[in-house]
Amino acid sequence: MALYSEKVMDHFRNPRNTGVIENADGVGEVGNAKCGDIMKIYLKIEDDIIEDARFETFGCASAIASSSMATELIKKRPVSEALALTNQAVVEALDGLPAHKVHCSVLAKEAIEKALQDYYGKQDAADCQIQKWRRS
Ligand code: FES
Repeated sequence: MALYSEKVMDHFRNPRNTGVIENADGVGEVGNAKCGDIMKIYLKIEDDIIEDARFETFGCASAIASSSMATELIKKRPVSEALALTNQAVVEALDGLPAHKVHCSVLAKEAIEKALQDYYGKQDAADCQIQKWRRS
């Protein structure tokens, strides 16, 4: 049996959603200290819907396939669904990953979480600014 599923190979060879979103609403970067792979996710969010999700991944085939699939799974979906995305859902959508490569899917989940934290942080900062203007 092949080490990687056809879906993993497809998303590795033809990754979807690569690149940067200028003026992204949320950006999350994570790395794995053991393997040295780095993943950065960019989100464009409007009315609580993820209008666009892109990534830059410096890493292995599974990390690239996981980033590609994870961005596909959250695009045009509500933020709440992106928050609930599990690495297991990414693995299943890829028709599996070898056990020693499951951490690559975890990286994708963590990068999305960080991008959403960034988004909510910016929202909070904007809300604080509005409150200050109202008080002045
Ligand atoms: Fe570490 Fe793939 S080997 S993310």
